[in-house]
Amino acid sequence: MIILGIETSCDETAVCIIETDDNSTFPKIKILGNQLYSQVILHAQYGGVFPMIAKREHAKNLTPLLEKCLEESKIIQINGGEETKISEHKIQNIKQILIREPGLYEQFIEWAEIIKSSKWIKKIDAIAVTNGPGLEPALWVGVCFAKALSKLLNIPIIPTNHMEGHIVVATLLKSKIKNQNEKFANEKKEYEIKNIDFPAIALLISGGHTQLVLVKENLKYEIIGNTKDDAIGEAFDKAARILGLPYPGGPQISKLAEKERQEFPNKVPPFPLPRPMIHSHNLDFSFSGIKTAVLYTVQKIPNLTDQIKQEIAREFEDAVVEVIVKKTKEAVEQFGAQTIIIGGGVSANKKIRNDFAKLAEDLNIEFLVPEISESTDNAFMIALAGYINIKAGKKPEIEFKAKGNLSL
Ligand code: KG4
Ligand code: ZN
Repeated sequence: MIILGIETSCDETAVCIIETDDNSTFPKIKILGNQLYSQVILHAQYGGVFPMIAKREHAKNLTPLLEKCLEESKIIQINGGEETKISEHKIQNIKQILIREPGLYEQFIEWAEIIKSSKWIKKIDAIAVTNGPGLEPALWVGVCFAKALSKLLNIPIIPTNHMEGHIVVATLLKSKIKNQNEKFANEKKEYEIKNIDFPAIALLISGGHTQLVLVKENLKYEIIGNTKDDAIGEAFDKAARILGLPYPGGPQISKLAEKERQEFPNKVPPFPLPRPMIHSHNLDFSFSGIKTAVLYTVQKIPNLTDQIKQEIAREFEDAVVEVIVKKTKEAVEQFGAQTIIIGGGVSANKKIRNDFAKLAEDLNIEFLVPEISESTDNAFMIALAGYINIKAGKKPEIEFKAKGNLSL
């Protein structure tokens, strides 16, 4: 099966084409093409994602990215087919679908003429597109693009939950990744989907979410813990901003914290920070207080040197990681979980990866985490989630909407 994944929920515009081999017990997944355009530099000046800029950039970049992705995947021979005209009726339909995106429509329809006269070596069987959660104006661009493409090429669409993408991408068998040392390793990676020992506890940590999810069986979720205010990634980004570090702040804080740990492994933190809700006896989180604590700390320091920034970054990271580790441990014990999964952009964090690996080892259960490059938003995880849903019998939809607050 060939699946095209489309992701536009935040500030990454991404498309990915995967090919699956369903004949073995453990389905094999190959990435044929994977293209991503990060808008991070554009949003950095605002200190966070500016939704209307995200929307504009998705609209501008989706068509060229798909073009590149198709080229990379070698499933189409551009202009190699018979010249076929797109019917006027279809053009009007596509125009209607992209009515709010006139720029995208112009670009799309011009490209559509070329695609129609091309030769397909392998057909795309389904489009998986993120329809939430995320920034609604940004999500809509991807959803409308998927619908226009579906109309043009008669391909069914599977609306896909972004958070499910973050979970499933962690469940790939890494030891079986092939071609790791080859020059084009990233482009032609092969994976196997791992059999998970259920129940599993998934901790989803990103710029918009901090959730503990009980995964009872494949694709069956129950949210058992949530943030009451800011998401953990948001807290990383805001703390970084207070320290004068650029957006996105997560990796910046992490880098400084790591340096401090290496230089002064046993230092008592000179600026202690709270561990919010660590003794709350429930599985919820709160990260807005620690951000304020960072602000108050910084306001009392007349000269915020690089050394002090480093100390605060380390204490911040230690504090939030201590909280998420403790809550996850409680969740595992409460539900008798056999597996811990972490996913979402913040799971790229080195200390988090190390501390959770240690937690799972202490508890003697399995630990699943995505590769660092697949922790942050990407379209591979969307294609993969779409595939797993198709295999589980999910039917294609056409009249679906983008939903900013879509839940698992
Ligand atoms: O999942 P994601 O790419 O986008 C959302 O769906 O939100 O997550 C982005 C978040 C940002 O807040 C970013 O600062 C954070 O992930 N992040 C990190 C690291 N890499 C990305 N936070 C801490 N340490 C990192 N290494
Ligand atoms: Zn995400």
